[in-house]
Amino acid sequence: MRAAAPGQLDGGCDARYGRHECLWGRAPDGLAHALGARLELPGATVLDAGCGEGRNAVYLAARGAVVDAVDVSALAIAHGRREFGHLPGLTWMRGDVRTLTLRHAPFDGVLACSLLHWLDGQAGVAAALERFRAVTRPGGVNAVMVFNDRVPYEPPAGETHLPTLLPHAWYVDRYSDWDVVEASDEDETGSHAGHLEPHTHAVTRLIAVRP
Ligand SMILES: C[S@@+](CC[C@H](N)C(=O)[O-])C[C@H]1O[C@@H](n2cnc3c(N)ncnc32)[C@H](O)[C@@H]1O
Repeated sequence: MRAAAPGQLDGGCDARYGRHECLWGRAPDGLAHALGARLELPGATVLDAGCGEGRNAVYLAARGAVVDAVDVSALAIAHGRREFGHLPGLTWMRGDVRTLTLRHAPFDGVLACSLLHWLDGQAGVAAALERFRAVTRPGGVNAVMVFNDRVPYEPPAGETHLPTLLPHAWYVDRYSDWDVVEASDEDETGSHAGHLEPHTHAVTRLIAVRP
């Protein structure tokens, strides 16, 4: 097993999309509900960073958000288009969310659900968070869900990449000059198509508002 190779941007997710029709399922994560509740919908602009097949982007777009749904995996986006069809307000974009030109920036909300730990080391994660902060308008919201280093990662059978696990406090510190309205560090146990055995992660959930 090894960490993501330099230049490999997706943390090995693309290979997993090749083995499953809808890897992360259709139901939105609670983070999308939490972000949606803080936005003025319809009309709010949202970046879904590392959108995967789009379960969160679709949830928000269906409620009137204007969403840039960005993923580095062409396969994830192809699956999302097939699974959810066309939605007004939803733009699928392929690329590295740290560098891609974004269509609707600045945003009222940025959602990063289970993306950051798949980036290449602490510097890669920090670059993503800097981008999210920079593309958020004053009064806008960042909503982050990320595995942290309190519980070791248990890879599914055959997985070849290890996530970047950083301390919960490190994430909270990145937003020390914003209004952090939620910052939890809890064990979450679940299963999904790529990892059928129930498994536990230590999960940081953070919601911060730009002054
Ligand atoms: C664990 S999946 C989560 C998908 C989705 N956010 C969800 O909650 O269903 C992580 C996603 O991040 C994408 N990803 C990894 N690195 C990325 C990058 N640098 N820019 C954009 N997407 C990236 C992967 O391709 C993968 O689809």
